[in-house]
Amino acid sequence: MAATRFTDQLNVQIGNEFAAHHQYLACAVYYDALTMPQMAALFYSQALEERQHAMMMVQYLLDTDAPVKIPGVEAPVAEFADVVAPVQLALDQEKTVTEQINGLLRIAREENDYASEQFMQWFIKEQVEEVASMSDLLAVVTRSQDDLNDIEDWVAREEGGADADPTAPPAAGD
Ligand code: FEO
Repeated sequence: MAATRFTDQLNVQIGNEFAAHHQYLACAVYYDALTMPQMAALFYSQALEERQHAMMMVQYLLDTDAPVKIPGVEAPVAEFADVVAPVQLALDQEKTVTEQINGLLRIAREENDYASEQFMQWFIKEQVEEVASMSDLLAVVTRSQDDLNDIEDWVAREEGGADADPTAPPAAGD
């Protein structure tokens, strides 16, 4: 049995992950409309990763016989001042999610819920990677904001699709 305080907050986090999905989708559409297919593909793929995070949390709740309540999500920011703005927003979002994930791990610890603590470990590692890669992208986009083809070339060169992660928790629906 997972601690109720933990599973309640995990249900909240499912909403945060879907909000991140929507935000990345809005960023992808922005770049797609600018005919920046590499940046668009990167953000479409990030959006899917966020959905996958939510579905991993759904699966964990199912596995522990906890209630699953899929929360509603606010509309994402969809208008941006320039090509740097969506990446800055994405980095800020990842930093916020890191705090949320740390908070979930803290609750699991406080409740002596060792299984939930272990479940959260993968997300802790994932957040380190996501903050680092968005931070790299922000540096590149800021540096090359006057040459969009430079940005596209960098993404095409450096952002190959991630290999499947065998350590990832199972996701509902997979
Ligand atoms: Fe679900 Fe980008 O963390």
